[in-house]
Amino acid sequence: MKIGILNSGGDCPGLNAVIHGVVGAAAELGWEVVGFRDGFEGLLPPGDFMMLKPEDTVGILKLGGTILGTTNKGHFAAKVGVGEVSGVPKEIVAKAKRTMEQMGIGALVVVGGDGSLTTGLQLYREGWPIIGVPKTIDNDLQATAMTFGFDSAVSTVVDGLDRLHTTAASHKRVMVLEVMGRHAGWIALWGGMAGGANVVLLPEIPFDMAKVAAHIKAREAAGCHSTLVVVAEGARLPDGHVMSIDDNCGGEVRLGGMGEYVAQQIEKLTGKETRACTLGHLQRGGAPTSLDRILGVRFGVMAVKLAAEGRFGRMVSYQSYHVDSVPIEEAVDQLRLVNPTGEMVQAARAIGICFGD
Ligand code: F6P
Repeated sequence: MKIGILNSGGDCPGLNAVIHGVVGAAAELGWEVVGFRDGFEGLLPPGDFMMLKPEDTVGILKLGGTILGTTNKGHFAAKVGVGEVSGVPKEIVAKAKRTMEQMGIGALVVVGGDGSLTTGLQLYREGWPIIGVPKTIDNDLQATAMTFGFDSAVSTVVDGLDRLHTTAASHKRVMVLEVMGRHAGWIALWGGMAGGANVVLLPEIPFDMAKVAAHIKAREAAGCHSTLVVVAEGARLPDGHVMSIDDNCGGEVRLGGMGEYVAQQIEKLTGKETRACTLGHLQRGGAPTSLDRILGVRFGVMAVKLAAEGRFGRMVSYQSYHVDSVPIEEAVDQLRLVNPTGEMVQAARAIGICFGD
């Protein structure tokens, strides 16, 4: 048996842990592992790949990024945004299929987010032996309670807030930190709570600047002269407006700028000196946390198990502390968003965190 693996979409801490898990578990079964480079692109003739033996994965667990490389969009993009499925062109699928057949690949592990898994689902429906592994730092994939990479991103946010806290307190300033989170505010919520933020602005809870300013003024009156504000890049104003850097980046708008906007408005409405800082891709790079390493390895092992059982068209999933699997179609096209009235938001409100609503 020869099993293929590829990473597709944006990178994420823990991708190498998945590769480590797949290679280790496949070796135990006496299988060969083919790692396709740069996502699905590696399947295009003549095929861009590397054979992966356990000795090739020594030391990769602690590495950020992916030793295989990845491609965001490219020839295999099946959709441009949530709900906008267009499909991979037939001639591209046919070319890639030839590579699969010529190489004798009996199972293909696709490690990706919503877009890449949509491509995987299309290929599965066309008869490919696909196994999905969920990947996104945003943690917004349906049908899995957690994706690897999220914990690493949150720990970067917490580290950032710890640093901003001391400078904010010294200068009696408001510090605004913009974090990733396109549609879902999980990184902002978890990072904000763990890092002691006073205001958290999420895509799921449209915010009103006047309420944010009132909260900061009330803190000031109570003797708290510094404030930490976390803003998800996809946070929206009451009219649904989001901030973007450009109109189109391979079909999907690049978000950014809400942190700077919020900081300017805070200074204007409160008179308090305010600075903004954007964490950006620092959240995607660097070594994975131990949780993400373990999650990644377990996901990789489960992917091989599914392949051994011939259970294709399924995505590895994490539920109630167990790694299991679900049909890929249950995972794509319905994002897992923060529940504005859920327990986590209630807990944050209970300790005085303001959501600007
Ligand atoms: O989907 C994950 C994510 O990190 C988003 O939070 C962010 O908007 C996007 O990727 C950034 O992608 P790119 O690498 O194309 O800038």
